[in-house]
Amino acid sequence: MAIDTLRNQLVEHLKRSRSITSPAVASAFLKVPRHEFLPGLTLEQVYRDDAIVTRWTDGLPSSSSSQPAVMAIMVEQLELRVGHAVLEIGAGTGYNAAILRELVGPTGRVVSVEIQPDVAEEARRNLERAGYGDVSVLTGDGGFGHPEGAPYDRIILTASAADISPRWVEQLREGGLLLIPFRFSTMCLCVAFEKHGRELFSRSLTSCGFMPLQGVYGPDATGDDPRFPMDDGLFISGPGSRGVSLKLLEELLNQTPRRVSDLIIPVNDFGLGGGLGTYLALTESGLVDIFATQPERWGFRYISGLLDAETKSLCLVRRDAVVVYGSDAAAERYKKRASEWIEMGRPGIDRIRIAVAPGEMEQPGMWMLRRKHYNFAISFEDSSV
Ligand SMILES: C[S@@+](CC[C@H](N)C(=O)[O-])C[C@H]1O[C@@H](n2cnc3c(N)ncnc32)[C@H](O)[C@@H]1O
Repeated sequence: MAIDTLRNQLVEHLKRSRSITSPAVASAFLKVPRHEFLPGLTLEQVYRDDAIVTRWTDGLPSSSSSQPAVMAIMVEQLELRVGHAVLEIGAGTGYNAAILRELVGPTGRVVSVEIQPDVAEEARRNLERAGYGDVSVLTGDGGFGHPEGAPYDRIILTASAADISPRWVEQLREGGLLLIPFRFSTMCLCVAFEKHGRELFSRSLTSCGFMPLQGVYGPDATGDDPRFPMDDGLFISGPGSRGVSLKLLEELLNQTPRRVSDLIIPVNDFGLGGGLGTYLALTESGLVDIFATQPERWGFRYISGLLDAETKSLCLVRRDAVVVYGSDAAAERYKKRASEWIEMGRPGIDRIRIAVAPGEMEQPGMWMLRRKHYNFAISFEDSSV
């Protein structure tokens, strides 16, 4: 099929799924040739709505071209205008930078920082070949931003972070937007934060999944625990994974699971996303994400659930069912949390508000996440508001 037809079909799909909602973003996706950023793949692979991993490090993805739907949603969240100055952290293939470049027009500018030197070099080559040679791709740790190009109207991260670098806030214009795939517990939410002085307030949120940021503001530095490897190609993360042995996990996963028929919970592409996922991430100490490098062996590649190590119980949330291994304890906990959330009126992520400040806040939220540099006050806005 011709390239134009494939690209048109992709854009039509993104419009139908409401990932693209504005004519400007539609025309940017129609114009930028994704195949120039993914050489070596067939056109059919390139123009599918899929994330494509382009680098692996120690068995885990370390660079990719993000899923077009996720990119489109994030670009819409950025509310870009002609003339804007944009800093992207995580150039990857350079494709997203080209989309940003289209949206800010001839009077705007885009700077992208990439930590892996070979990835940065490839992004430069791809951008040049596709006609976007005026995007500056710098090799370095985006945790420091790029002060020489500041101030920026928009800063976007394409890797997830559990804290905010004070450098990003300094380099952002007053009223500007910082878009960050924000990680807490096992959740990742793409949050557009608006800057007001030293504080930031969430303006829009969407569900997403992103590999963790590397470098000074990466997981080690922020004290957040990302997935850690166990043998046999299993990786586990989340608060429920602390101190858990592979033996226990294997013992549980090798049992025949039972379906828990009265728990019907929506699961999205990112596992336990949405309002319930967020509620669990804020309240549940047993939450885990399990990632398998040999999906054929375990029957999943990526799955979320609750682990109760003490009572040897694991409850996993599959797309079509909630299943339990071992005792019922984890499923009971899950049920309790789900009922609390239902009682709150099933708040979705559209009702989440996050206020961010470097120190104490006048109005702490329902839940406080205290990170090294910033505190995050999270609440579900009352539905009657
Ligand atoms: C999901 S990929 C980027 C997708 C990309 N925007 C595209 O359009 O292809 C994330 C990228 O962030 C980069 N990265 C991770 N930590 C970084 C950091 N501290 N500074 C700059 N880049 C970083 C990774 O090397 C990886 O290439």
